[in-house]
Order: sequence, then structure tokens, then C-alpha cells
Amino acid sequence: MEKSLILAWILVLSTAMALAPCRGYYSDAEPYVPAPKKVTHLHFFLHDTMSGKNPTAVVVARPNMTTAPNKSFGTVAAIDDLITVGPNVTSKVIGNAQGLWVMTDRDVFGLTVYIDFGFTEGEFNGSSISIFSRNPIAETERELAVVGGRGKFRMAQGGDAIIEYNVTVIH
Ligand SMILES: *[C@@H]1O[C@H](CO)[C@@H](O)[C@H](O)[C@H]1NC(C)=O
Ligand SMILES: *[C@@H]1O[C@H](CO)[C@@H](O)[C@H](O)[C@H]1NC(C)=O
Ligand SMILES: *[C@@H]1O[C@H](CO)[C@@H](O)[C@H](O)[C@H]1NC(C)=O
Ligand SMILES: *[C@@H]1O[C@H](CO)[C@@H](O)[C@H](O)[C@H]1NC(C)=O
Ligand SMILES: *[C@@H]1O[C@H](CO)[C@@H](O)[C@H](O)[C@H]1NC(C)=O
Repeated sequence: MEKSLILAWILVLSTAMALAPCRGYYSDAEPYVPAPKKVTHLHFFLHDTMSGKNPTAVVVARPNMTTAPNKSFGTVAAIDDLITVGPNVTSKVIGNAQGLWVMTDRDVFGLTVYIDFGFTEGEFNGSSISIFSRNPIAETERELAVVGGRGKFRMAQGGDAIIEYNVTVIH
């Protein structure tokens, strides 16, 4: 107990010293020097599977009424989808995409997605990109906002979706 307290104090003190010179709860402002920017192109496939015994996308809520022309308006799904190098789900898995999609278009089949794409292979093992974007899935080619970049993807039709992503990340 005592030992851990001492250790905690050493940690607190060293943190305080790291922030010195201290002005209470903030440090002196310093010029921000950005690192040189790099561009990386990513190409992968997302498997959003709602059917079968092992769905990777499950509906967690839907409204019990809606006046919207499209009755699926308001449906919320949680996902943990596989990311693979090829369109076949048996191709090499390079990560997973976790998050939510919500049917947010009253009139047509359209989503807003809140998804973190995490990679588990190669140089980007442990890295992820966050997509927070409207996703008009009735269109074959779409552009989605990525934190730090922009992407495009395509989707096969049907209940389960295989979506091709071409992502340009500036980081
Ligand atoms: C929807 O749920 C609310 C609250 O439980 C209830 O009052 C209402 O009758 C329900 N509407 C329908 C169409 O089931
Ligand atoms: C996916 O790969 C499996 C085995 O690797 C193969 O049997 C299957 O036909 C492939 N599916 C498609 C749609 O290419
Ligand atoms: C409404 O959404 C469903 C998906 O749940 C879609 O299949 C259907 O085409 C949409 N209807 C219209 C009018 O866009
Ligand atoms: C990815 O990173 C994790 C955690 O650092 C590590 O355990 C795993 O072996 C790595 N996988 C590959 C394929 O490098
Ligand atoms: C996505 O990238 C692949 C491989 O680089 C390319 O073949 C494909 O045409 C690209 N798709 C789009 C929509 O740019």
C-alpha cells in the first residue's frame, strides 16, 4: 500500500516535471511543428453479414413507429465486420471494423456510419481509421469522410454486403 503510494507520487511528480514550466494546470504555449505529411492508399473489402448463424452486423434498435416513407428509417445496427484483402471472405483477414450504422434517410436506403477500421496485419497493425460519414448506399460509388482523409467505396447488392474501400489517408 505504502509502496504503491510512493510510486504514485513519483509518477505524479515526474508528470508534473514533464509539464514544467507549469502555470497551474497548463504549460507554456510552444510553436507547433507538424511532421512532414505522408499519403497512404489503402485497398480492402468489408464484409457486413446480417444473415446466418454468425452475423457480424446485428440490429440493436428500431423505432416502433415512423411516418417516414422508408419504414427502416431509424434502425440502428452494431457491427464487428471482417476486413479482408480480397472480395472473398476466405481471403486474408487484415483487420476488423467496429461501430454502428444508422438508417438516417427518411426517403431512400441511406445510412450514417460511425466505424473504426482497425488493422491487424503489416505496417498498420494496431492502427485504425475512423469513418464518420453519411453513406448514400443507393449509389454504387460513394465518397465518405475519413478522419484525416477521404475515401470511396463500392458495395455489392443484397442483405449481406461486401464493400470495396479505396482510402487515401493523409497522416
Ligand atoms: C410505441 O411505443 C410507445 C411507448 O412504449 C407506445 O406508447 C406506442 O403505443 C407504441 N406504438 C406502436 C405503433 O406500437
Ligand atoms: C471463396 O473462396 C472459397 C475457398 O477459398 C471458394 O470455395 C469460393 O468459391 C470462393 N467464393 C467466391 C465467391 O469466389
Ligand atoms: C428502404 O430501405 C430498405 C432497406 O431496409 C431498402 O431495401 C429499400 O429499397 C428502401 N426503400 C426506398 C424507397 O428507398
Ligand atoms: C499485431 O500486433 C499485435 C500487438 O502488438 C501482435 O500481438 C501481433 O502479433 C501483431 N500481428 C502481426 C501479424 O504482426
Ligand atoms: C480501387 O482501387 C483498386 C486497386 O487499386 C482499383 O482497381 C479500383 O479501380 C479502385 N476503385 C475506385 C472506385 O477508384
